[in-house]
Amino acid sequence: MSQNNPTRIVAGNWKMNTTPEEGKKLVSEIIPMLEDELRGHVHTILIPPTVHLASLKSLFSSIGMTLLWGAQDCSAHSKGAFTGEISAEMLTSIGVSHILVGHSERRSYHGETNEMCREKIVRIVEAGGCPIYCVGETLQEREEGRVEKVIEQQLREGLSDLLRESPIPFVIAYEPVWAIGTGKTATPQQASEVHGMIREWLRDQVSNSVAATTSILYGGSVKAENADELFCMPDVDGGLIGGASLNSRSFVDIVKACAR
Ligand code: PGA
Repeated sequence: MSQNNPTRIVAGNWKMNTTPEEGKKLVSEIIPMLEDELRGHVHTILIPPTVHLASLKSLFSSIGMTLLWGAQDCSAHSKGAFTGEISAEMLTSIGVSHILVGHSERRSYHGETNEMCREKIVRIVEAGGCPIYCVGETLQEREEGRVEKVIEQQLREGLSDLLRESPIPFVIAYEPVWAIGTGKTATPQQASEVHGMIREWLRDQVSNSVAATTSILYGGSVKAENADELFCMPDVDGGLIGGASLNSRSFVDIVKACAR
């Protein structure tokens, strides 16, 4: 694979699941099963609840493999009187490399707007991290034929001027809201079509090289059984995995599918 291709990535978003002990058990099952893949070209990112991060990371950092750690959210502010919030800098200072922004659960349960996402992306980049910016349409928006419009707006309001100023690290995750946690996966064609549209937007609005190198992940009911057919599609560079990342065997099989 040429260096100019997007990095292949599988990220496991545990959401608000697992006690610290269960988290430790899950990671200790995943690591030996993933040994070969972790030395290969797929970047594997674990995104546990924030409170587990420091202990899990220090427990396994001695292994020296390319396992990366992510966080599920961060504050749009850098510091100060924001009770309950965690800054991007706090996360990167304990070794978090990637931070999710604009996950549909944050957008729908916490009212996060594209503008708030943009602020978070700025904070993450300032702190030396890499945002994973989540975009995706609801079922109603898809049925009304508004997929392209909705995603274009999420990209434009969340990202565009940031990308034009100077290069920043970022990953995009396309997660149709109707596919998250529902068992209803987008077909490989539906996923590839939207991914192609996102890449086209990057080409038009930013540059050919940013479009060619940006990793675009698919998320929404990815399982070991459907990972192969999704990951072999044009413009699908990996996945953001929710439910199936809580089972070590399923998660590892998904990473392996991405490496093929
Ligand atoms: P799911 O979640 O795989 O359980 O559908 C994906 C996500 O929310 O990132």
